[in-house]
Amino acid sequence: MIENQNIKLKTPRNVEPTFQADDTDVEYSLRPRTLAEYIGQNKAKENLRVFISAAKARGESLDHVLLYGPPGLGKTTLAGIIANEMGTNIKITSGPAIEKAGDLAALLTNLQDGDVLFIDEIHRLSRQVEEVLYPAMEDSALDIMIGKGPSAQSIRVDLPHFTLVGATTRAGQLTGPLRDRFGVILRLELYDEAELKEIIMRSSVILAIPTTNEGAAEMSHRSRGTPRIANRLLKRVRDFAEVLGNGTITKDLADIALGRLEIDHLGLDSLDRRFLTMLIKGYAGGPVGLETLASAIGEESVTLEDVCEPFLMQLGFVARTNRGRTATRLAYEHLGIEQTGQLSLE
Ligand code: ADE
Repeated sequence: MIENQNIKLKTPRNVEPTFQADDTDVEYSLRPRTLAEYIGQNKAKENLRVFISAAKARGESLDHVLLYGPPGLGKTTLAGIIANEMGTNIKITSGPAIEKAGDLAALLTNLQDGDVLFIDEIHRLSRQVEEVLYPAMEDSALDIMIGKGPSAQSIRVDLPHFTLVGATTRAGQLTGPLRDRFGVILRLELYDEAELKEIIMRSSVILAIPTTNEGAAEMSHRSRGTPRIANRLLKRVRDFAEVLGNGTITKDLADIALGRLEIDHLGLDSLDRRFLTMLIKGYAGGPVGLETLASAIGEESVTLEDVCEPFLMQLGFVARTNRGRTATRLAYEHLGIEQTGQLSLE
């Protein structure tokens, strides 16, 4: 028996696709280890399969790979799969964690032949650090400067052959020289509902959470195209199923739980709704610049751009124009706001 008690839960943003503290334990057990286990991203996956087989057949390490796309789509997972399929180790770091050129040099000299070095948020590397990467990526070498001034000398040290897997939410922010050094560039797309449902079913088996087909469909419909969100919703809805129901996630239970988590029928959360409401009510539906919109709702513009917009644009609620962001008729309809005047777009 499900009791829909009217308790308002104070939660952080449950549809936040960036990594949250309590994701780690579950994410590792849910993470697929092979390409065969990895659901979705068929284009990227099939191309990777070819590149991996070819590199293995030649006995070489895989060319450097750049993965880009919105957060939560499985970039780290894919890097782990690349290492696993190549039969090598992976070292994981991120752009902001590598502060000095020497930090990267230490990482590189500690790699073994064939290793994968995964750098998340690679667009946040400093210029000095980036310059260490160029000869490393191109010639498996490290150029070390000895001395200062006119007597300074550069010494080249050989490095093991390695595969750099870089991940970024914004390929446009990568410098040209860095982008050009990646032999494989793969764009990850938001997942469709069928794929998310398959991911949720797979996760519910691994976590032993009884879930009906319809329950999984409801959660996948409301996961804004992102496996990390789908898996997080699964865990949260399980809590409701265990406390309010008999432990099984049904469609009704998913609906109650997601309602309590303030995730609407399309998967929009309160931040998405604040974004749209401000755009429509504060700026007459736009066009308005992203920075203006961000400061009006007190959020960082990068959050709006990386997290809210890809999904709102996929739904056809927001359009980007060179004069700023505009809300479409669908957005007005979804929020139940009457559209007055002429829309500047459509
Ligand atoms: N868990 C998270 N992302 C996944 C994916 N793409 N395939 C399978 N399981 C996943």
